[in-house]
Amino acid sequence: MSLLSVVSRSVMRQCRHFLLPSLSLVMFSSTAAADARSDYLLHCSGCHLENGSSKILDVPDLRETYGFLSSFAAGREYLVRVPGAAYSPLSDAALAQVMNWMLENFELQQTSGSPFSEEDVAAFRSNPLYNPGVLRESLLEAL
Ligand code: HEC
Repeated sequence: MSLLSVVSRSVMRQCRHFLLPSLSLVMFSSTAAADARSDYLLHCSGCHLENGSSKILDVPDLRETYGFLSSFAAGREYLVRVPGAAYSPLSDAALAQVMNWMLENFELQQTSGSPFSEEDVAAFRSNPLYNPGVLRESLLEAL
């Protein structure tokens, strides 16, 4: 066995304990945002467009309302209870990440509320809306 291979084996053994865990931590935190973006693109942008600006048919421009509605309790519940969000195939954790990715990445017209937790999303989506327009109108009266 050459000296070089002995040295490189011992370096690899050391690295396994330090480098690999920190590498996976870095990869995990950067992939969380990338996953949220691709989940949004895959499951939501068909109707809402890449930047939330869609106004086709009854789809609301999320930039005009999302910040405002996320800033108070009843509005936050509504945002997760709309059929497109509540019935999406995303897990509670993944949907929370998409909702938060939207808070961070859309050019919202109002100051938004705090991020959604997985627990919030689980509780709200368990009670989906069948006729969101009526509640939406009353929530937006204050806007
Ligand atoms: C098939 C089209 C469609 C898809 C796909 C869709 N939505 Fe929607 N979304 C709508 C429509 C239409 C509304 C207006 C309320 C309603 O009628 O459901 C809406 C409303 C919303 C609202 C409330 C905004 C407001 O101002 O009322 C949020 C938040 C939202 N969608 C998020 C999402 C997310 C997150 C996804 C993906 C996981 C998604 N939607 C997928 C069509 C869609």
